[in-house]
Amino acid sequence: MTIREILRMGDPRLRRVAEPVQALDTLELHGLLLDMRETMIAANGAGLAAPQIGVNLQVVIFGTGQVSPRYPDEPPIEPTVLINPLIEPVSAEENLGWEGCLSVPGLRGQVPRWSRIRYRGVDEWGQAIDRTVGGFHARVVQHECDHLLGILYPQRMRDFSQFGYTDILFPELAGAKSDDD
Ligand code: NI
Repeated sequence: MTIREILRMGDPRLRRVAEPVQALDTLELHGLLLDMRETMIAANGAGLAAPQIGVNLQVVIFGTGQVSPRYPDEPPIEPTVLINPLIEPVSAEENLGWEGCLSVPGLRGQVPRWSRIRYRGVDEWGQAIDRTVGGFHARVVQHECDHLLGILYPQRMRDFSQFGYTDILFPELAGAKSDDD
């Protein structure tokens, strides 16, 4: 297991469209996921996509099993591996919420996302995943899957007055875990 370098905004590797994973349950894939988990935990992240460590594959992880300090009223998301994902909105309803990204460190912005989504894909063993979720869970999945399209959250923002440094916007969270995706 290795803690990998997280690429930061401006790196062209973050703008690529990721390739689907062809072979599941391989040593290479399990090794990638070990590195991703270790890297996410070391960065106190809420999620991580393979392109953020320079691997151009449709692999994301999210969920810490703990309540997010950003969304203290939301239930924790179970640790999930999602490969070759497909997302669809359940309705046209959107909501605004704060996002941060490990590839855009120190900043937060208000991002519109679909309020409820259905997402499908497989885990690292090829087991099907099919969930319909809302709230923070839906937001994190949309954020992570955007990484697979080469999209970072500022590209989804519509109001840049709601964009700033985390420690200025949320002084009460000073010293808290980063909780970015
Ligand atoms: Ni991110």
